Amino acid sequence: MASATTTKPKTIKPPKVKDQKLFIGGKWRDAVSGKTFPTINPATGEVICQVAEGDKADVDLAVKAARKAFESGPWPKMSAAERGRLLHKLADLIEENLKELAALESLDNGKPIRDSLNVDLPLTIKCYRYYAGWADKIHGKTIPVEGPYFCYTRHEPIGVVGQIIPWNFPLLMQAWKWGPALATGCTVVLKPAEQTPLTALRVAELAQEAGFPDGVINVVPGYGPTAGAAISEHMDVDKVAFTGETTTGQIIMQAAARSNLKRVSLELGGKSPNVVFADADLDAAIEGAYFGLFFNQGQCCCAGSRLFVEEAIHDQFVDKMLKKAKSRKVGNPFDLTTEQGPQVSQEQMDRILGYIDAGKKEGAELLCGGNRLGTKGYFIEPTVFDNVSDSMKIAREEIFGPVMSILRFKDIDEVIQRGNQTHYGLAAAVWTRDITKAHRIANSYRAGTVWVNCYDVFDAAAPFGGFKMSGFGRELGEYALELYTEVKTVYVRLS
Ligand code: NAI
Ligand code: MG
Repeated sequence: MASATTTKPKTIKPPKVKDQKLFIGGKWRDAVSGKTFPTINPATGEVICQVAEGDKADVDLAVKAARKAFESGPWPKMSAAERGRLLHKLADLIEENLKELAALESLDNGKPIRDSLNVDLPLTIKCYRYYAGWADKIHGKTIPVEGPYFCYTRHEPIGVVGQIIPWNFPLLMQAWKWGPALATGCTVVLKPAEQTPLTALRVAELAQEAGFPDGVINVVPGYGPTAGAAISEHMDVDKVAFTGETTTGQIIMQAAARSNLKRVSLELGGKSPNVVFADADLDAAIEGAYFGLFFNQGQCCCAGSRLFVEEAIHDQFVDKMLKKAKSRKVGNPFDLTTEQGPQVSQEQMDRILGYIDAGKKEGAELLCGGNRLGTKGYFIEPTVFDNVSDSMKIAREEIFGPVMSILRFKDIDEVIQRGNQTHYGLAAAVWTRDITKAHRIANSYRAGTVWVNCYDVFDAAAPFGGFKMSGFGRELGEYALELYTEVKTVYVRLS
């Protein structure tokens, strides 16, 4: 408990939230069905507020509004520089309301307020600013073709884009999707995750204040199989961008194929190998492996969830890691000293406890944690399994929770082969002082991002995405512009 000697306030007050509507064509509306759904505070299990529940009819209205805004009115006439200015304005407004948004994110998602304040919000703002800068720098080429022709390409916005995002980084995933879509001149229909709709709606309000014309951005909260499916099946949506579970990505891609062959980009799950060689700076490796797994309650697509530790340092590594895991401060997300909040939902908590059970049954050695913490909210103890083998369920499937699996290895060839033995390919990391080993790992792992002597480094300028069943398409950086543009070739006869 807090001691009486501290003068600085250690907890922040959770915000009060009123019931929420859908944002369509610049207006706040109830769902056509009149239905609402509750969004839950995962730290208490209590209802925060009711949210209008979008479904097919609402998605239809949103797509109509987005189509209209794409084809007529101020948006298609607006200069690229002006689009950039609006994105800058949005970033400024988010910054002005940083504390409020951080608190709302922590309330809806359960993440510690110090993470919302120091990670989610700054990265979100930087992402919008980065794409604001791109808006007037997106252009084609002139191509020296044969014959009396002048040939050039135009990079045109793809059109109306549907964007379906998950609950682990609600604000940031919205920024990764809206930044490039709005910079290129698309219009969007966003479906936030049903667990965390609140910040997306608040950002929509700020976008309107920034001056985005009606219909350019639409936010339709609702469930996946209804509102999400309506987006991915829609005949007038030109592209769907998705982040979430691999099996959901497969469903969305099938819907796109069945309907209008809308473009698809997918950022899916992972089972990323994090390799610690005996020659590594041990303390840095422990810090990085701890952060790379436990950050955000373990709810990261790129979590270092297969921690390969070289035999020679195994015991020492495990001792130190255990001390850290056991001292991790779990609790009230609004306490500024909290390091780990609740999992996002009862469903996710149960799923993770199921994986912990599977780990025990399959013979992994449980070194600490393994249980739910308390009876209110969805808290799980930081959990460490040692002597995990490749075939165990906890080494193969995405757990998405604070559960570390330590695997031993003997040499680099072995760890390259074992690390790649997965359908996923999102990220990988290596800890070593030997540049040859570092580069061999970086080149050998079939993964979209490799971190060398670091983990979870992100920058709006650098692409992120998956190999194999971790999806396709690259978000962030210049690469993401490709997800939101069509290339048009124009030939002009010169004689
Ligand atoms: P999910 O993939 O079902 O949900 C993500 C988003 O997709 C949500 O907005 C949801 O409403 C929507 N969705 C669900 N079904 C849909 C459908 N049929 N059509 C269109 N949209 C649909 O993920 P969920 O169920 O929340 O979590 C399950 C597991 O997925 C987690 O345990 C984790 O392993 C993984 N996951 C991975 C994420 C990542 O960042 N790669 C993010 C969230 C979950
Ligand atoms: Mg699901």
